[in-house]
Amino acid sequence: MALNDKTAVVTGAAMGIGKAMTEILLQNGAQVAILDVDKTAGERLTEELNKRYGAEKTLFLNCNVESEEQIKAAFQKTVETFGGIDILCNNAGILNESTWEKIVSINLMGVIRGTYLALEHMSKLSGGRGGVIVNTASMAGLGPLPSCPVYTATKSGVVGFTRAMAAASAVSGYGIRINVLCPGFVQTDLMSNMSARLGQFSHLADVTQQLIEKIGIINVSDVADCLLELVTDETKNGEALMLFRKGKQYVTFPSFSE
Ligand SMILES: NC(=O)c1ccc[n+]([C@@H]2O[C@H](COP(=O)([O-])OP(=O)(O)OC[C@H]3O[C@@H](n4cnc5c(N)ncnc54)[C@H](O)[C@@H]3O)[C@@H](O)[C@H]2O)c1
Repeated sequence: MALNDKTAVVTGAAMGIGKAMTEILLQNGAQVAILDVDKTAGERLTEELNKRYGAEKTLFLNCNVESEEQIKAAFQKTVETFGGIDILCNNAGILNESTWEKIVSINLMGVIRGTYLALEHMSKLSGGRGGVIVNTASMAGLGPLPSCPVYTATKSGVVGFTRAMAAASAVSGYGIRINVLCPGFVQTDLMSNMSARLGQFSHLADVTQQLIEKIGIINVSDVADCLLELVTDETKNGEALMLFRKGKQYVTFPSFSE
């Protein structure tokens, strides 16, 4: 799938992984709606990107993925500005075990909310052009992080939701591929003040630190490269792409039908 003149929406795009995703999509010719709850960072980034890629290529929309109304309004504005939606990156996420209901609301419910609302614009069954959705999970979606049980639960949920939705899309004829990224540790703000983010599991900060030392930390650009692969390779649907410093790998899951 060529990205020239395709329209992408990226949530949690003002910084970190979402920012790198936005940049790689722009570099490959897409126009990008930048959705984020942080208005200051979002507007600052948009100003910077406008200078590099042209003002008609980006649109900042202040949007909290916890709000159905705000996502709906952001998608509507994207369609009015760019003429449709071809790519959705459900990337917004937090790590804070002490506000566990909020992690579920953002990391898991935000992905479900974003996906369902996007179907109204993207699905061929509702007049859309089809396209691709890529959700950001984590290695925590594939195996447990003992210091972050709720983060682990949300990311496991994102992996399961993605795979079930990909199968539903294929059978129903939505014309939408749905894939999930499962990165290891990535150098972003989410990695700062780790022990404060662990709440009642802050005593396990050392366990996380040992794992970081063992498997290493990757850069946001590594994740963005994997996003590009999942967006452009039209053979990929329902795939989970794992990436660590030692490399990337598509995950093999047990099959119930064989
Ligand atoms: N950094 C890592 O080690 C790592 C590893 C694997 C997966 N991830 C996942 O990658 C995604 C991006 O994380 P990051 O590391 O770039 O974090 P980050 O904190 O650098 O950036 C997150 C962005 O999401 C935005 N955001 C937070 N809550 C939001 C909400 N309710 N609505 C809209 N935007 C919101 C923030 O304002 C910020 O711009 C998350 O889903 C995270 O779980 C991160």
